[in-house]
Amino acid sequence: MQLPDPALVVLVGASGAGKSTWAAPRYRAQEVVSSDALRGIVGSGPHDLDASADAFGVLETIVEARLRRGLTTVVDTLGLDPTRRLAWLAAARAAGLPAVVVLLDTPEAECRRRNSARDRPVPAPVLAAQLKTARDVRRQLEAEGWDLVAAVAVESTADVPVALPDSVPVSAPALPVGDRTSSLGLRSVLQVSRFPWGEEPLAWLTDIARAADEAGFAGLALMDHLIQVPQVGRAWDPIPEPWVTLGAIAGLGTGLELGTLCTPVTFRPAGVTAKAAATLSALTGGRAFVGIGAGWFEREHAAHGIAFPPARERLDELERAVVTMKALWSAGTKSYDGHGVVLPETTSYPRPAGPIQVVVGGSGERRTLRIAARHADACNLRTTDEAELARLVGVLHAHCDDVGRPRDEVAVTVLDLPVVGRDRDDVWARVERLRGRTAAATYAARTLAATVDGHRDRWARLAGLGVTTVFLATPDLGSPEDVLALRGLNA
Ligand code: UTP
Ligand code: MG
Repeated sequence: MQLPDPALVVLVGASGAGKSTWAAPRYRAQEVVSSDALRGIVGSGPHDLDASADAFGVLETIVEARLRRGLTTVVDTLGLDPTRRLAWLAAARAAGLPAVVVLLDTPEAECRRRNSARDRPVPAPVLAAQLKTARDVRRQLEAEGWDLVAAVAVESTADVPVALPDSVPVSAPALPVGDRTSSLGLRSVLQVSRFPWGEEPLAWLTDIARAADEAGFAGLALMDHLIQVPQVGRAWDPIPEPWVTLGAIAGLGTGLELGTLCTPVTFRPAGVTAKAAATLSALTGGRAFVGIGAGWFEREHAAHGIAFPPARERLDELERAVVTMKALWSAGTKSYDGHGVVLPETTSYPRPAGPIQVVVGGSGERRTLRIAARHADACNLRTTDEAELARLVGVLHAHCDDVGRPRDEVAVTVLDLPVVGRDRDDVWARVERLRGRTAAATYAARTLAATVDGHRDRWARLAGLGVTTVFLATPDLGSPEDVLALRGLNA
């Protein structure tokens, strides 16, 4: 059962229906606001009925405060009071969050049996009254206007101990051998964008690359920047030159494809990038790729004495760069003249040891996507908004149709920048660590924060949109263990 997240989740069911048991493995302890637990805090214990009014006062405050911050809130009470339910529903609406009821539809006899087995059973007439109310509640809920009423039919567990799922396992089923396409039909490439390598850069890179290989990534990509970009780190954080660095990684003998995402056309003449990529291809036995883009970070150009022409000129250069590289890598040494590129000869050795995929980065609809459609092997887009991604794929395909290129010749790749956690607690610990001054719910939404399983569900949808390769860059990748924790995404 897939419930929206973040959301208000109101549990409904008589005592012993299994509400708390249902919520415990699915949500973080802090996300579940329980009247019993609050009775234990403001009163003598979870069953201190004299403390009910105070407990509910605190509960209402907590629910309202969490919803207002856009945080998932599971209300664990009987849920049988329509006035309270409608107030929570209104608070969720005010916060713009989906509002869901989870109805624990446990047979009455089972509730009675579980109740009598408890240390402090609810008095029989009280339970009877609850069960009576619960009989009508489904009809009431339908009239109340919830976004979703999900009924959970709980089977009798009279003889079976309750088995709760453990937190999401970090190591997943066996990885596919060979081409490293996962069971989702995707290949994923680890994009390493920050370099907390301390005193030992090469040792750190070695460990990260070996871990990526072991975790089933198809490749490893590096950004090409002269100053660390503000989206990732501080200007004084190290950001190594990628072609030199990829050369070092090539020496490790992993099965990873290696390349940049993305090299700006402004840094090096296209012929020099072609030479670097062909060399990397020769050194890796044909596992090099080039991500290339128009460049955007003006500051790094100024600091390094590199010209930063207007966008139109950079885009013209992007087109010429792809054409130049392809010409230099193609068979023979004949002259080339086309698409604004004139080369008297195309002599360039070593030859690439295999096809070098050119991935054009950027989502400029009019020019970048057209350049990709006309010349590239792949077009790299961002993932945060799936509807927007689907629309951009449509724009790319329209360009393909327009320039007479078969759509499937231009692969759709994406750059994915999610927060990934081992389990729900780990996800939120990371959000809390990374969010800076951004509100947690906002940061979590922006980074699609979720467990490995959550991301697999999302990646399955990306595959459905026609994506073939995900470039994955998590914002807190620091150690080989962090890389290995991602292996479930490649299964
Ligand atoms: P819960 O404590 O989850 O019920 O389960 P509840 O709906 O939250 O009850 P109240 O409203 O707080 O009183 C009640 C008992 O039933 C067992 C639990 O272990 C617990 O002892 N149970 C629950 C099962 O045996 N199987 C289940 O699937 C769920
Ligand atoms: Mg309970």
